[in-house]
Amino acid sequence: MIDSNFRIKELLEINQELTQLKDLDLLLDHILKKARMFTNADAGSIYIVENEKLRFKSNQNDTLSSRLPKGKKLIFSSFSIPIDNRSISGYVALSGEILNIPDVYKLSPNVPYHFDSTYDEISGYKTHSMLTIPLKNQQGNIVGVLQLINARNQKLEIIPFLREDEPLILYFANAAAIAIERAKLTRNMIIRMINMAGLRDPKETGAHVNRVGSYAVEIYEVWAKKQGIDENQIYRNKDILRLAAMLHDVGKVAIPDSILKKPARFTPEEYDVMKGHTFYGARLFSERLSELDEASYIVSLEHHERWDGKGYPGHINPVTLKPVTGYETQDGKAKGKAGTEIHPFGRVVAIADVYDALSSKRVYKEAWSEDRVLTTIREEAGKQFDADMVEAFFEALDVIKNISEKYPEE
Ligand SMILES: [Fe+2]
Ligand SMILES: [Fe+2]
Repeated sequence: MIDSNFRIKELLEINQELTQLKDLDLLLDHILKKARMFTNADAGSIYIVENEKLRFKSNQNDTLSSRLPKGKKLIFSSFSIPIDNRSISGYVALSGEILNIPDVYKLSPNVPYHFDSTYDEISGYKTHSMLTIPLKNQQGNIVGVLQLINARNQKLEIIPFLREDEPLILYFANAAAIAIERAKLTRNMIIRMINMAGLRDPKETGAHVNRVGSYAVEIYEVWAKKQGIDENQIYRNKDILRLAAMLHDVGKVAIPDSILKKPARFTPEEYDVMKGHTFYGARLFSERLSELDEASYIVSLEHHERWDGKGYPGHINPVTLKPVTGYETQDGKAKGKAGTEIHPFGRVVAIADVYDALSSKRVYKEAWSEDRVLTTIREEAGKQFDADMVEAFFEALDVIKNISEKYPEE
């Protein structure tokens, strides 16, 4: 047991970090990582209460991760379980009590819950000790459940979770629950902003924007690591990019319904009006009061630029709509931004958005086959898209495909 003063200090620092993260998915991963470090747990998961069920949202497992090729991430599928006494996490969500089980395969016949060994059977992993903690908000409502698996001693042997850790981990869980509520609020505000923004537009569903946000951070992470960008910087950028990418089309607020809701392809004139959503979106963030504003400004403005310079709206001032001096074409229009003139956030959201649009059904088209989508993206490397970003996209592809399962079309 490490000196408890040291551990309390460590906890306070972790809480401080939790208050800084804005995005829900990243926050959940972070909470799980810190809770595992704190208890020296090999694995763990987080469930979040959604529609009166527990939704499996985050999963980490050092043993299984170490068996993967370098740079690959653990894939898991999202599912929901009922909040009732039959499962361990359901029981904890219902009772609001912490549950410390030394060996899940040796449960007393008197307890109502049982251990579901399906995951162990599929993965070849062996669960022994398990600490399941309710995540309660300030009103005492359960927002989720944190489950830590296989505590280890210094020799890395699996041991039961320490009783004396329970109060500290409960304290941590409390701070985590508050951070989760705040992140949910931020995400809901963004979804509300998107819904209000006339994304009344049937193609811009909450599921679409959530997927684009998640794809963008996965591609960005692979790309940024290869560029040698500092880990901490990558982490911070992921947090703001996740939310900014969700807002990519928020400028559609300024597009008339007659065009926005047209159940067919646009005429060239309509298409020109539609293109305005880039700078109208940027205007919403033009004061750029925070890093999130700054990122949202960039993403709105640049997500339809092309690497070869043939995209839109190009080098314009989003407020005056005049070309930036020195970037006028011969007919007085704005030159398209090209190559690295486009911010990495713009380049990455371009791929994420197109990938999702092609893979999904639209009023004027069916969903394309996976083969056709991937061939198109590969062919557009160096034309529509940054070739390095395309490479990163393919490296992250298994994770990306897994995300679409997490955010299915309602
Ligand atoms: Fe767009
Ligand atoms: Fe979109």
